[in-house]
Formats: sequence, C-alpha cells, structure tokens
Amino acid sequence: MIEYKNRELWTYFFTKPRSYYNKYMYEMVNYPDYLIFDREEIENNKSKWNEVYDNKNTDIYLEIGSGSGNFSIELAKRNPNVNLLCDELRLKRLVYSARKAKKEDLKNIKYIKYDANNLTDFLSENEISGLYINFPDPWTGQEHKRMLGEKLLENLDVVLKKNGKIFFKTDHDNYYESVVELINKSDKYEIVVKTDDLYSNEKLLENNIQTEFEHLFIHKLKIKIKYIEIIKL
Ligand SMILES: C[S@@+](CC[C@H](N)C(=O)[O-])C[C@H]1O[C@@H](n2cnc3c(N)ncnc32)[C@H](O)[C@@H]1O
Repeated sequence: MIEYKNRELWTYFFTKPRSYYNKYMYEMVNYPDYLIFDREEIENNKSKWNEVYDNKNTDIYLEIGSGSGNFSIELAKRNPNVNLLCDELRLKRLVYSARKAKKEDLKNIKYIKYDANNLTDFLSENEISGLYINFPDPWTGQEHKRMLGEKLLENLDVVLKKNGKIFFKTDHDNYYESVVELINKSDKYEIVVKTDDLYSNEKLLENNIQTEFEHLFIHKLKIKIKYIEIIKL
C-alpha cells in the first residue's frame, strides 16, 4: 500500500478499494511541483493560487479539460509572464502533462484534478484573467451536460476578471452555434472573434496552438475547427 499525506493513495481517486488500479495513480505522486490531486489542497489554494507558483506573475489563466498537455505546455512557454492552471480529470492525461512540464522545467504551470463544473470551490472572485476550453465533449443528446453553458457563465461571473476572455475551440457545429447563441443573449459577455473555419483564417492561425484532439480532427477526420473569443463586460 502506498500512502500520501498519511492516507492511502487510492482514497484520493477511488471510492472503494480495488484489486487493480489505474497504473497512472502511482505516478501522480512523482510531480509535486506540477500536479495537485488532493481535493483539500486544491480548495485551500482558493484566493492564493499565485503563491503556489515559484514566480512573481500576477495573471492566472485557467484551462478546462487540458488533456495530455500539448496546448498548455506551449502556451506556458510562449507566455512566461502568466501563470497557467490546468484542470483535467483523467489520470493518464494529467501524468502525461506533468511529465512534459517537468521536462521543460516550467515555473508557470500547474495541473489539478478537479471537476471543472465546480470552479467556485477552488477559485475566488476575480482570480482568473482568462479561460481556455478546447474541444470539450459535445454530449450529443445530453446537451445540458456541456461544459460551456449557462452554469459556467454564472461561475465566471464570479471568478473571471472584467475584460477577461474566454477562448473556445470545437469541432462540433451545434456546440459552436449554441455558444454563439448563448453569448448573444447575454448582456454580460460579448463575442469579439468567431469563425467556423479557423484554418482558413491566416491571422488567427498565426497564434493558434494545436491540441491533441485538434490534430486528430484536422489530419484524420478532416473536420473544420470552429473558434470563438469572448470578452467579459
Ligand atoms: C475531448 S477532450 C479534449 C482534450 C484537450 N483539450 C484537447 O483538445 O486535446 C475533453 C477533456 O475534458 C476533460 N473533462 C471532461 N469533463 C471535465 C470536468 N468536469 N472537469 C475537468 N476536465 C474535464 C476530459 O477528461 C478530456 O480530457
């Protein structure tokens, strides 16, 4: 049995003991500078995230569903003056991300394992300057479960600074249209950029960082990438 902070490790990830665990569970403890999976620790950092990073940066950008980390690692390298907080649920993807961050010796990136539906449990008022959501699950047939919806906007009313931005990419036509509709009917947010074909817009593409899913959609599935940039008023 492996313990972490006087508790059996599995209790951080599973509700019942098992005879076989996800092998990435054991690797989670190897990246204390990059990976936080203890729920209590994550919640205790609320309102003081900047103190957790080994730098003097003041702006924090959140990424929800950061996958295996290609996007966040490149973003952190391009923007050493901002701190990135990346939220993901899957252990394998978190471990892959932390491995990459450690290899690059990045000081401005942290990964957390937390349900992003409950942002206000670990972020306080105006704590973030921006939010990235890349290719969230489209939940076809169960659209109420989509990450970018009314509930997220309500949470962002609290945690996102005024003039803070939301950057959203999707492969999914209906998700794209529903977000356009959602923002158009809101008086608190405004769309500043939108395209239903990111790769036909050279200027936007210049700053684009390709995610793992984006790579798959473009090269294998040949699906057009939709992009929206939203500002909080
Ligand atoms: C389709 S993948 C996209 C991953 C990555 N952004 C990319 O573009 O390659 C969606 C990711 O969101 C994560 N996710 C889903 N629900 C989540 C939640 N409630 N909180 C945090 N992450 C979540 C999933 O584990 C998955 O890795």
